[in-house]
Amino acid sequence: MTAAVRSGNGDRHSGYDATWFAAAHSKNLKHQQIVNTVVCEKKVTLYRTADGVVHAINPVCPHLGASLGHGRVEGDNIRCPFHGLAFNPEGRCVEVPWGAPPIRPSVQHYRVHENNGFIYVWVSETEPAWTPLHLDRSPFTYAVTWEATISASPRDMVENAPDYQHFAALHTMEAPRRTAPTVFEKHVMSIRLNAAGFWVNYPTLASLNAEGTGLIHAHVTMPRTAFRLLEIVTQTPADQGTSVLRVATYANATTFLKGAARKGADRLVSHLAHWGATHQMKRDIFIWAHRVYPEHAHLTKGEEDIAALRRWMRQFDEAAPQPDPPPAA
Ligand code: FES
Ligand SMILES: [Fe+2]
Repeated sequence: MTAAVRSGNGDRHSGYDATWFAAAHSKNLKHQQIVNTVVCEKKVTLYRTADGVVHAINPVCPHLGASLGHGRVEGDNIRCPFHGLAFNPEGRCVEVPWGAPPIRPSVQHYRVHENNGFIYVWVSETEPAWTPLHLDRSPFTYAVTWEATISASPRDMVENAPDYQHFAALHTMEAPRRTAPTVFEKHVMSIRLNAAGFWVNYPTLASLNAEGTGLIHAHVTMPRTAFRLLEIVTQTPADQGTSVLRVATYANATTFLKGAARKGADRLVSHLAHWGATHQMKRDIFIWAHRVYPEHAHLTKGEEDIAALRRWMRQFDEAAPQPDPPPAA
């Protein structure tokens, strides 16, 4: 559900939940391990079976309510820590330790999708019509990954990209020039712009694609240099007023090198790009923590893409459609 005004600071999540949200970096869930997290105020337990398949469940044990998130993975099954009942990957009870017949109720599973180094879950009761695109990470040999819990509205991150007018004031960049019209098509928003000044004051061609409200990937190049970057940024509503940002930064600039020299250079360039991007993102995070996200914004000429974004976002709202935001003046 959405309300008239909702802040990112202490308010509940937005209700724009009919989308894939990252629940973990893949590397943080090893075989036969469990990760507990919160997505859209719902407890979600992830576990990876012995053969590497990830499952996402509501951790409440259907026997007497203990948390399966504190249990253990045995082969393909998860076993509850309280009385030891075991549940298979379909959620069905397959063993009661004292030999009684298995109980009938099942563990509730969420849809889960793993690609590009992230584990995504779909906790909405709606049916997903898409899954996150596979991205070609083969040009890269190294990624910097991080995650942080922040105070923000779930819509702050996705609105950050088409809000071009904040780039100069907040990020001290040149006003970015779009190199192509912004495209909103189905669940994808595509932005092409020259973001000179993001790292250095040099032409910086960025291709930003949002898939739903929780995932943006950016491809960045600098003409006449070999610099190339892929950054995957996810924002996941967690508990009231908080979101978890999970980011992976891949970069390189010296593909002519080979072997260990190439890996070392990629590592250095990725860390430099990560440092620069985080430096800028911290400015956004500060604004989001103190911002009241207005449902009806007073937009000016030059902010048409924010209005278009807000119309596009309604497809992810589980609640009733909202009225159109006012057109730009
Ligand atoms: S509560 Fe899980 S086995 Fe009893
Ligand atoms: Fe920003």
